[in-house]
Amino acid sequence: MGRWLVLGGTRFLSRAVAATAVARGHEVVCAARGTSGAVPDGAKLLVVDRDAPGALEPLRDEAFDAVVDVARMALPWVRSALVAVGANTAHWTFVSSISVYADSSTPGHGVGDTLVEPRTEETITDDEAAYGPVKVASETAVREVAGERALIVRAGLICGPDDLTDRFGYWPNRFARGGRALTPGDPGQPAQIVDVRDLADWIVRSGEEHLGGTFDASGPRSTLGAVLDEVADAVGAADLERVPAAPEALTAAGVQPWAGPRSLPLWLPASHAGMLARDTAPAAAAGLHCRPIADTARAALAHERTLGPDRPRRAGVTPAEESEILRRFS
Ligand SMILES: NC(=O)c1ccc[n+]([C@@H]2O[C@H](COP(=O)([O-])OP(=O)(O)OC[C@H]3O[C@@H](n4cnc5c(N)ncnc54)[C@H](OP(=O)(O)O)[C@@H]3O)[C@@H](O)[C@H]2O)c1
Repeated sequence: MGRWLVLGGTRFLSRAVAATAVARGHEVVCAARGTSGAVPDGAKLLVVDRDAPGALEPLRDEAFDAVVDVARMALPWVRSALVAVGANTAHWTFVSSISVYADSSTPGHGVGDTLVEPRTEETITDDEAAYGPVKVASETAVREVAGERALIVRAGLICGPDDLTDRFGYWPNRFARGGRALTPGDPGQPAQIVDVRDLADWIVRSGEEHLGGTFDASGPRSTLGAVLDEVADAVGAADLERVPAAPEALTAAGVQPWAGPRSLPLWLPASHAGMLARDTAPAAAAGLHCRPIADTARAALAHERTLGPDRPRRAGVTPAEESEILRRFS
């Protein structure tokens, strides 16, 4: 069994990676501040603030079989991790994103697509517009040091238990409540998700097998209508009535696509029709197995219930907003 370093490990994907690696018998060190949560049972927390100069220096003489880094918008973090342990690590996974692509409008494209311009300044940013550009620069930094030892995972929409974004979970939560539910009236819109547990499982098995290369990592291509059908079938209340609204009507009612307040999560404008329609066949051929969406919906609902179904959300419409919008349409 191997020795793994997870840069993160206290929440969502990186925590699921650490938990999976522990379950598969690896010794797992999670380097994080520990402020987002606890590391999984069986993993060790190395308290590290990656903003501090030389934060990973204590690891400099250590050797790892695998490193997994989820740095979001911090090229200096990526570089300093590579300096600290890049030479002594057999396999390096960097979790990137489908936000690296310049064109989000065309369905069916793969990893050969044109990327956004990298942002190579040695700064840490919270400017969301820098997300894709910093991921591109981070990917390059990882390839420069790890070469064929590098696995670049361009994740699509990650869903399931412990998701902090409130996007996918909105739908199981809403459909389980029942009654008249406002839904996007564009069922043919492409949609594609990956369950956090499946992605974590693939990342760990790929590290064990020293899989190298760059992959768009998400589930099979589907449609928003089919995804919502599966969610409704899995967890919808008996009295659920889905009320589809045309995109123009939603826009006129001030409803946002994708995420955020007063939004219908996963609904995308036509300009982004390619975002959730990546060619994920290479990842599937390389072992990324995706469970049925119904299973993700049940797990997401269980997580929603631990948080409380009526809490303030980062994404979705509130019950009051939904009633007000539905009244406009009736
Ligand atoms: N969610 C999606 O749908 C989606 C889609 C595409 C790609 N992705 C990518 O998937 C990955 C998700 O990673 P994730 O779920 O683990 O969540 P994350 O929020 O990206 O990562 C958070 C981890 O980083 C640690 N961290 C934050 N600040 C730190 C600091 N100053 N020093 C040390 N550690 C620090 C956190 O631990 P502490 O706070 O405890 O320090 C936590 O363990 C990211 O790379 C993201 O870009 C996500």
